[in-house]
Amino acid sequence: MKRENQLSGGDLPEQATDQARPGHSDAQVPADWNGGARRAATEALVVRPRRLRRTAAIRRLVAETAIRPAELVLPLFVKEGIDEPQPVASMPGVVQHTRESLRKAAADAVAAGVGGLILFAIPAVKDERGSAADDAVGIAALALEDLSAEVGGDTVIMADLCLCEYTDHGHCGVLTPDGEVDNDATLERYAEIAVAQAAAGAHVIAPSGMMDGQVRAIRTALDAAGYGSVAICAYSAKYASGFYGPFREAAECAPKFGDRASYQQSPPNSNEALREVLLDIDEGADIVMVKPALAYLDVIGRIAATVNLPVAAYQVSGEYAMVEAAAANGWLDRDRIIMETLTAIRRAGASIILTYWAAEVAHLLG
Ligand code: PBG
Repeated sequence: MKRENQLSGGDLPEQATDQARPGHSDAQVPADWNGGARRAATEALVVRPRRLRRTAAIRRLVAETAIRPAELVLPLFVKEGIDEPQPVASMPGVVQHTRESLRKAAADAVAAGVGGLILFAIPAVKDERGSAADDAVGIAALALEDLSAEVGGDTVIMADLCLCEYTDHGHCGVLTPDGEVDNDATLERYAEIAVAQAAAGAHVIAPSGMMDGQVRAIRTALDAAGYGSVAICAYSAKYASGFYGPFREAAECAPKFGDRASYQQSPPNSNEALREVLLDIDEGADIVMVKPALAYLDVIGRIAATVNLPVAAYQVSGEYAMVEAAAANGWLDRDRIIMETLTAIRRAGASIILTYWAAEVAHLLG
């Protein structure tokens, strides 16, 4: 039986009038909305999205996005010359590890099911060229060897490749006499460090310095040294971000002068991120990364829609600190926000997420 539909004005085909929904066109809402029109509209309401939200079981069934521990990577800090793990004040729950506590934390994270670990090392002595970064008996090499021995067969060991933790000036490259970051001289250092990290057992090298040509320089050096099967996860779209603040305490790598804006990306730009990503793929990147994550979901989404290799996103120190601080004040439900932010990053298109909550979330999802 043809139903009268006062919302449509009666001039639409039968199927369309049956499915017409209130609210779609204000112009069609008649003055007597609370009368017969309302009844007619709800009778006609065939499409009801709430059906799929009614119970937890249905919501779980139709979930489009899930967090899997195997896609999470835990960043770890190791510091030379300390006897006890040192808390990082701006990142409650995160510590600078001793070699021994690093092994334990790694074993725990891997047992919980995380997909990988990424190591940052802090040497006792820094110099202008960051010599400790590729010192075969330095803290970075020793800790990578420890990780390799402890969990190397069960997880992916990634080595962050940058100079800022190792240079006395705190910049991510070597400097010209004028105090500028010297791109091409830095590439030579990156090449040497990549080979040292591979020799120490890293499965994946992750260059984070945002020098032009860094992926090609590292790929070439790895291949020439016989490490053709070691992969590169490029921090391709790494923004000059205020969200790195707490990390610089954890890794003791704040620049002593200036900032990183001449090499890290400018926050207003998204085309530039795509350009950097495509260049890195061309240069041999196996995985590309966007960093930070939450403030750059659009960039993650755009890149994931464009490229056909894994896209990683780094939920950085400031993202972690904001949630921990608000939760400590009782202002946010910590666990809920952790899952919501990770889900957002995953939904945006990242298939790998670096997060300081990796082990905890992996335990939680067990
Ligand atoms: C540089 C590096 C940084 C981070 C990872 N690698 C800091 C920076 O660029 O200043 C930031 C990570 C974080 O904030 O959690 N080696």
